[in-house]
Amino acid sequence: MIPKEIIEEIRYRCDIEDVIGSYVSLKRAGSNRNGLCPFHSEKTPSFTVFPATKSFYCFGCGAGGDVITFIQKMENLDYVGALEYLATRAGISIPNEPSVGGTPTVSRRRIYEMNLEAARFFRGALFDPEIGRDAMQYLVGERALSGATIKRFGLGFAPNDFNMLVNHMRRAGFTEQELIDGFLAKRSQHGSLFSLFRNRVMFPVIDTSGNIVAFGGRNMTDEKPKYLNSSDTPGFKKSRILFGLNYAKEYCAEEMILCEGYMDTIAMHAAGFGNAVATLGTAITPDHARLLARYTKRVIINYDSDEAGQRAADKAMKLLDEVGLPVRVLRLEGAKDADEYIKKFGADAFRALLGQSSTAFDFKMAQILAKYDVGQAEGKIRAARELTGLIATTYSGVERELYIDAVSKRLGISAESIANDVKRARARQAREVAQRESRELQMAARNFGDRVNPDAAKDPAAANAEDTLLGLMLLHAEHRAALANGSVALTVADFFTDFGKRAYTAILAAEQSEGGFDFSAMGEHFTPDEMGRFVKLREERAMLSANGIEVLTSAAATLVERRLAREAKAAGDWRYEIERRRALQAKKNNGSKK
Ligand code: CTP
Ligand code: MN
Repeated sequence: MIPKEIIEEIRYRCDIEDVIGSYVSLKRAGSNRNGLCPFHSEKTPSFTVFPATKSFYCFGCGAGGDVITFIQKMENLDYVGALEYLATRAGISIPNEPSVGGTPTVSRRRIYEMNLEAARFFRGALFDPEIGRDAMQYLVGERALSGATIKRFGLGFAPNDFNMLVNHMRRAGFTEQELIDGFLAKRSQHGSLFSLFRNRVMFPVIDTSGNIVAFGGRNMTDEKPKYLNSSDTPGFKKSRILFGLNYAKEYCAEEMILCEGYMDTIAMHAAGFGNAVATLGTAITPDHARLLARYTKRVIINYDSDEAGQRAADKAMKLLDEVGLPVRVLRLEGAKDADEYIKKFGADAFRALLGQSSTAFDFKMAQILAKYDVGQAEGKIRAARELTGLIATTYSGVERELYIDAVSKRLGISAESIANDVKRARARQAREVAQRESRELQMAARNFGDRVNPDAAKDPAAANAEDTLLGLMLLHAEHRAALANGSVALTVADFFTDFGKRAYTAILAAEQSEGGFDFSAMGEHFTPDEMGRFVKLREERAMLSANGIEVLTSAAATLVERRLAREAKAAGDWRYEIERRRALQAKKNNGSKK
């Protein structure tokens, strides 16, 4: 638990515009600020910061909340983690007291401490002349790593033993539950704890703040699974970590090399290319792309030359383009990955190859041209159609012109004709995007797949009234007061959805608490998605002109009505029964008319 005064201090000192402004470039829009949403890909800004209410909301994807919610989502932290993060940013120190009662799951900080201790243990084992002999032989011999590289990346060895690590960690003060939650141990059927990583070379995964967030363990025999990785824990989400970024961000901010694995990254760093980072086996995610965009200006994609690697490269080009990073693609001939290539041909050959990497467009043009026989009219037409479609997706007009030229030369078709087709393709694509967006909006409006409030679809009338009520409560203190003092009669039992019940209880409790209602304090009890919903409800109300007490009263009445109807139904009330039969009959009559 972080003391209340400290939380208030953090909120006071971390101005929402300031904090969000360091991630998103914001422009003035009336009294609010607008920008491109960092939580989904978009080309026109629907992300809004409301300085007056210290909140944000994205009208595109529904993300919203206060400054703490923002950091939770952006840095993948829980509520307390986000507070700690903001405290550090504002130079506020949080007194370090053990949590009373405790949270059920282990905290991030504890996981990092645990991983650090485990990494020390693994390193000790690797450098032990007896226990680590084979592993050291594997790394230095087969993988050709120097002692300095092994140390720089903190490599280690998990001994072939079920208990050694567990015993070591217990002695260091870590509980069984912590070891299980941190993915270092598992409970056997007999109830005893055993180490998950055994007889594997260990690769610590380190985030940009220097925390060890996970481990990858490789066996030395190519038996399957070749790698064993920590599952996602409170401190680690695979989709948000780039291996090697902790070093690459210091090495070079201009350009980074993106590859697939631990060994490729390490081999490149050892050969002098300290700007290499890896997505760990998983395909690149939008989170990875945004992370890269924060640390570099250009990316060279260097995925494995097999088919899976090339498909992954296509996806990477698309995602990196969406965050505005120019991309080049490196193709390796004669080796499956960078590690192998450097071992076979040396660092100089690799550097020369880097210089020849092709632009994303050239790479894709080559892919398309390889598919068709452009010596024939038919093949030429098809290739031209695909290529103009590709050029059309390019945002920059200058780039489009260069590509049009290149295609025109390559196919022997006039630049004018190509340009015309590109224009048509762009119009078509814009139409398609508009259609898709309006479909998505309609779906959202109909509460389809409402994860925040899954009950809403079961009684839309009640859910609507709840939304109105909550929106009004969030918007005006006098509405909260009216409900708190009973001048508008409503109890939590009148609510239909679980989300509505929880929200109503929390807002009223805050209103009646000593400090009064404070939107930010809700973040302690609600998820970032739920916080986003609150801002949405409030802002939607704020856009309407009728927000007076009569609207509140009528929404409350609707909720009471709906509750009575539910109760009547449950009690088998005869009036309800008659209603139901009438409705059925009417439906039948309608049906027979058709
Ligand atoms: N990977 C994984 N689990 C596997 C296989 C792969 O997590 N069973 C991840 C690892 O992060 C690995 C990356 O995917 O580094 C790329 O896989 P692959 O190309 O098969 O391995 P290499 O990195 O080439 O590893 P090595 O050179 O040691 O064979
Ligand atoms: Mn490899």
